[in-house]
Amino acid sequence: MPSQLSAYVSDTAPGRGALRTARSWLHSDAPRRSLNGLWRFRLSPTASVAEDFAAEDFDDSGWDGIPVPSHWVLQGDGAYGRPIYTNVQFPFPIDPPHVPDENPTGDYRRHFDVPADWSDAERVVLRFDGVESLFTLWVNGDEIGGAAGSRLAHEFDVTSSLRPGDNVVAVRVHQWSAASYVEDQDQWWLPGIFRDVTLTARPAGGIEDVWLRTGFDGGRGRIETEITAEAAAFPVTLRLPELGIEQVWATAADVAPLDVDGVEPWSAERPRLYDVTVSTAAESIALRAGFRTVEIRGDRFLVNGRRVVFHGMNRHETHPERGRVFDEEHAREDLARMKRFNVNAIRTSHYPPHPRLLDLADELGFWVILECDLETHGFDKLGWAGNPSDDPAWREAYLDRIQRTIERDKNHPSIVIWSLGNEAGTGGNLAAMSAWVHARDTGRPVHYEGDHAGEYTDVYSRMYSSVLETEQIGTDGSRARLLNCTPAQGARQRTKPFLLCEYAHAMGNGPGALDQYEALVHEHPRLHGGFVWEWRDHGILTTTPDGTPFYAYGGDFGEVVHDGNFVMDGMLLSDDVPTPSLHEYKAVVAPVRFAFDGDEVAITNLRHSADTSDLRFHWRVEHDGTLVDSGDLQVPVVAAGESARVPLPRIPVSPDSETWLTIDAVLAAATAWAPDGHVIATAQLDRSAPRPVPAVRRETGWRQSDGTLTLGIAEFVDGSLVRLAGRAVAGPQLELFRAPTDNDEGASEEVEESDAGIAGVSNAELWRRDGLDRLTTRRLSVERTAGALRTIAKVSAANSALSVIVESVWSVQGDELELRVEIEPSRGWLTVWPRIGIRFDLPDGAAPVDGAEWFGLGPLESYPDSLRAARTGRFSSAIGDLSVDYARPQETGHRSRLRQLTLTSAGTTVLRIATLPDTRGRRPGFTLSRHTPQQIARAGHPFQLPDSTTSHLIVDAAQHGLGSRACGPDVWPEFALRPEARTIRLRIAAG
Ligand code: GAL
Repeated sequence: MPSQLSAYVSDTAPGRGALRTARSWLHSDAPRRSLNGLWRFRLSPTASVAEDFAAEDFDDSGWDGIPVPSHWVLQGDGAYGRPIYTNVQFPFPIDPPHVPDENPTGDYRRHFDVPADWSDAERVVLRFDGVESLFTLWVNGDEIGGAAGSRLAHEFDVTSSLRPGDNVVAVRVHQWSAASYVEDQDQWWLPGIFRDVTLTARPAGGIEDVWLRTGFDGGRGRIETEITAEAAAFPVTLRLPELGIEQVWATAADVAPLDVDGVEPWSAERPRLYDVTVSTAAESIALRAGFRTVEIRGDRFLVNGRRVVFHGMNRHETHPERGRVFDEEHAREDLARMKRFNVNAIRTSHYPPHPRLLDLADELGFWVILECDLETHGFDKLGWAGNPSDDPAWREAYLDRIQRTIERDKNHPSIVIWSLGNEAGTGGNLAAMSAWVHARDTGRPVHYEGDHAGEYTDVYSRMYSSVLETEQIGTDGSRARLLNCTPAQGARQRTKPFLLCEYAHAMGNGPGALDQYEALVHEHPRLHGGFVWEWRDHGILTTTPDGTPFYAYGGDFGEVVHDGNFVMDGMLLSDDVPTPSLHEYKAVVAPVRFAFDGDEVAITNLRHSADTSDLRFHWRVEHDGTLVDSGDLQVPVVAAGESARVPLPRIPVSPDSETWLTIDAVLAAATAWAPDGHVIATAQLDRSAPRPVPAVRRETGWRQSDGTLTLGIAEFVDGSLVRLAGRAVAGPQLELFRAPTDNDEGASEEVEESDAGIAGVSNAELWRRDGLDRLTTRRLSVERTAGALRTIAKVSAANSALSVIVESVWSVQGDELELRVEIEPSRGWLTVWPRIGIRFDLPDGAAPVDGAEWFGLGPLESYPDSLRAARTGRFSSAIGDLSVDYARPQETGHRSRLRQLTLTSAGTTVLRIATLPDTRGRRPGFTLSRHTPQQIARAGHPFQLPDSTTSHLIVDAAQHGLGSRACGPDVWPEFALRPEARTIRLRIAAG
């Protein structure tokens, strides 16, 4: 390895030759040229290839072309290596600051023209907005410098190396460097020049940087302007045409704060922006100012004097084909989708996003926690020994990172908190970063979750604290010990505003308990909400050898060290499809709440500051899910934090079906993120008249039988159901297993409060140990009467003495068939169960069951601790759409509280099934799927599910909750399914 490069790789200091003063990403009218586009590219397996490629006359005609921006591992169909996914682990030996000789190194070259009229420029600056991880730059053979800090901007003065007309730029990028030790975020390692490269002409008399610090207080706005420019650049003019402001400052000393009357404040809800220009004779900068004041008062986090509740998402930059390469259209749609799902905040985990994203956040309206590009999580394994965060040798690199972060993005009103990074332990370098931020920006607090004891940060932040502990943090009287805090440190933390920088780990099916966290926020004002982990799955679109497309996760590219599907933990699937958990989230955090009270409904506006003048309220009445009446609800405008009571409409109540009233709050007019009529919040009220449940008819006169008989539409052979309404059916068979969710597979220690499992052992492991996935049956008896059949079976697993007795009674009731199944576990079951259900297998005949219509909860799947998005209604779906394509197949598709189910084939009714409530009024749920839980559990990816010619209907008396134990607490006790006796009663009729 050339000595200079080797010194550089092992050097922890920031860039050589890079302009030391970071500055804002500004919209300037100074001339610029994008150097994005096709570059020449060569990949070498090590960093020791000769640097001769940097020479002007180097012949690169044999090289490939590569687009910039891109990641080389996502180009060339594997010709340039493959992505690597690790969470905490370093994919190279932990030998800081060194990296292995096997260090993929990408050499890039391109020609570009410098326009003739740029000769007037004082300087020409070459800017890189993102290069992973370390790069060196040459222009026309001159080595200009190099830099590390992958998600940070680096600018180089290239003036003296340029000439008019044709020029050559060469860049060498190493995948691994000292910087990789501080960029150990939980994501794919994706090397390359992945953000824009721009050449800018800096005019003499231009504006190097500008910062509009805006404030809002009692109807007045304030702008404090910081201008970085040569004295000769003055006068500088600030124009805000909408408010008639034109302020000229003759010299730097004249620059003074401006108080502006009649401004509307900026908030995430009403993101009011004002166009501003700041100009000299030579350059004009366009900014969009939003007036807001961020403040911590006691344990409250306030914007414009009002408490903020974060309904936030952790947002990574990830795309199945582009990786971290920014695409504005996609990003805008992604943010608009967040708004449609009632998300009001973003944490830019765990690095600054493409700078343009923050323009979009300003414009669409989000509270943003902007995080620095820093994580050293892999040192955890060493008990944090050697952690760069506490090693003075790294101090300069840490300060460089935070300075580049804050300077680049300081103008955005959406950014309300700076975050030093993520999971980098603790230490003096973090404290130094914090001190630097405090000195530089007095207008925004500092966040860093790893400062557990609260030594240098302004807000108390945690990740994945349980509901119970979160409540203890919010409760003044609680002396409960806080994680990693002495009692005194805990007391200090309780004096600060609290937020969950991560919670509700959204891996696979789940999380549950979103509503419990949300409830706490409204009980304890110190709790300011949080940020779900995370917004989207990071799947990378690839294909199997036979060409089947799929979304890859860790291990799919043959990585030596990887963390499997832990990178698939978003509320959005890789292909942008919102999961049911996102719908649940939307319902749980809805900013408008309804409380029914007699003949009135109280409507509460939980927004930060916006009233409800942008909303309309609509009601409808359904009888057994069929619309019978609807209208508009007249609701006065409700101010933020206020409630209004409104009389309910008089509605027709049906004597023989369920009567439900539904109220929707919808947008009265289209916004930048949703059309007119978009639903913000929904509530339902059960107005059903009481109806008797048909009593169980106790048959008498049972006698032993061979079990071959016909009862109404059911045909039995040897006591087993073989046909229903003339179609082949097998079952019902006891089903206690579900294909474990990622949360079921979670083995966190956090089980004590839920009493559902064993610390360090996943529920899924216990289920497999008990053989729930491989139950066998022994028939104990078959008996019949004239109009009924009864079988009793004992169900248990190999090498287990635990069992379940299942009694099934078939009888004809009028023209319907009734099935009553009594399920009784033996003594001695110690674990929770995934489900208590019965399964029918419906092989494809001439008319395969391929869809369902139902009256019950829908339209999406629901589980005991995730029921808020589900509403009572009538729904229909093709069988394939009943399941969610989680990246790793797992339990999916359960619809709760079923009343009526129609199985269909090409739209024609095949079977009609009605449920009867048990003696406690509980109704079963159902799942209709092409695959059994056992088949699903065996597949690592959707393409590994076998082709199926059978439909499987599972009717569940109960399902276990979801929890979020993939990274966080287990299922809350109330929603944990303990083995228990259950009854399922169904009425079955032909189509
Ligand atoms: C957190 C971490 C995130 C992510 C998450 C689990 O500890 O900050 O980056 O790894 O756990 O998915």
